[in-house]
Amino acid sequence: MSNGLILGIESSCDETAAAVVERGARTLSSVVASQISTHARYGGVVPELASREHLRAIVPVVRAALAQAGIALDDLDAIAVTSGPGLAGALLVGITYAKAMAYAQNIPLIAVNHLEGHIHAVLLEERQKRLAAEEPEPQVLRLPFTSLRVAQDDSSIGDMEAEPALALVVSGGHTHLYLARPAHGSWTYSLVGRTVDDAAGEAYDKVAKLLGLGYPGGPWIDALAQYGNPHAVPFSFAQIKTKLHLGGKPPRTKAAKTAPIAHLDPRFLFSFSGIKTAVLHYVELHNLRPEAEARRDALFTGPDAPANPTVEAALATCDPQTLDLIASFQRAVIGDLMKKTFAAQESLGAIRILVTGGVAANRELRARFTAEAARRNLRLAFPTLALSTDNAAMIAAAAWPRLQAGEFAPSSLSADPSLALGR
Ligand code: KG4
Ligand code: ZN
Repeated sequence: MSNGLILGIESSCDETAAAVVERGARTLSSVVASQISTHARYGGVVPELASREHLRAIVPVVRAALAQAGIALDDLDAIAVTSGPGLAGALLVGITYAKAMAYAQNIPLIAVNHLEGHIHAVLLEERQKRLAAEEPEPQVLRLPFTSLRVAQDDSSIGDMEAEPALALVVSGGHTHLYLARPAHGSWTYSLVGRTVDDAAGEAYDKVAKLLGLGYPGGPWIDALAQYGNPHAVPFSFAQIKTKLHLGGKPPRTKAAKTAPIAHLDPRFLFSFSGIKTAVLHYVELHNLRPEAEARRDALFTGPDAPANPTVEAALATCDPQTLDLIASFQRAVIGDLMKKTFAAQESLGAIRILVTGGVAANRELRARFTAEAARRNLRLAFPTLALSTDNAAMIAAAAWPRLQAGEFAPSSLSADPSLALGR
């Protein structure tokens, strides 16, 4: 384990990604091939198409990641791959490729949970920033000092990372709250809350589809919400009663297949299927459907639809009522994410919050979480936009403590579409 160079591979959903990260702290390369254009016309990810696209992209993406990092295959110390949760066929492409590479190179294979990866996107960038700030002025004895410093950095990072963090992972497949605790250079996770049905990103995608906007819906709603009145439509979230939820068994929806919820505090449970239905009712009641169909045609599916529709073009197709609906939907979703996250933070006494996953790219979410954390005197961190959505740097970073601890995946590793994180 000379340099701690890990190649990360991620293929759990609709992004084929590869990255090289050094010692969990320095991103040497990060390449993401998005399949958005393939799935856009269907308004969501089509699993069979996703597997096919991953098969096409995996070899060039891995090659590009190695080339961008300026390293050869022989320089790698380990290969990390997402083993779940995600789409079975999509995960298998990455796993099979990673296994073959690890076998051929005779280096360890490390399995990473996708959700843990999202948490490590934030930790990786925190370390990266710290290292940059601590970088000494170039001097004559630079080389020996550099190698010495690596060891020192690890211990100082260890100190600064000693605090537990409440992590909100909010994406197209998940809305989960974890308490992440550092333990002997590694991390443990306890599930604190989660959605009982749809994920927040899923609600964004479904509402956008209903309104004739593109896929994924989050960025469209994010961009258009600022033009509407967020107080126009009073959406509300009912308190969730755990006991009534299938006797604590996991609900059978795409977003919420993994862990039982009976032991979780109902105050930290999310539910986004209600607001999606409320938006649908609003659309029906106010007869907004024909306008949404026309919008879809004009922007995406019609013969005159532009190749890359802009926000301005979308805005031109929206009347004030639709913009108010979009703004109100977003305000309500973010308000609910905040309410439950800060309730959990208070209850657990956490002084540090991480918000990560695709929805963490949202501008209003960032602004409101930042203001509330400042008011409460808490430390809050998001990944940069590039690391908020799916990528492989976060997978390589999450694998670093495993490489140090010698926790390797067996050669029988397979995809686990509903892999849970923590207890
Ligand atoms: O983490 P991610 O790339 O993939 C999953 O693991 O699901 O998250 C994708 C999700 C999609 O639902 C997308 O609509 C949402 O993140 N998203 C956003 C924004 N950018 C992406 N939601 C709200 N605002 C955004 N700016
Ligand atoms: Zn993700």
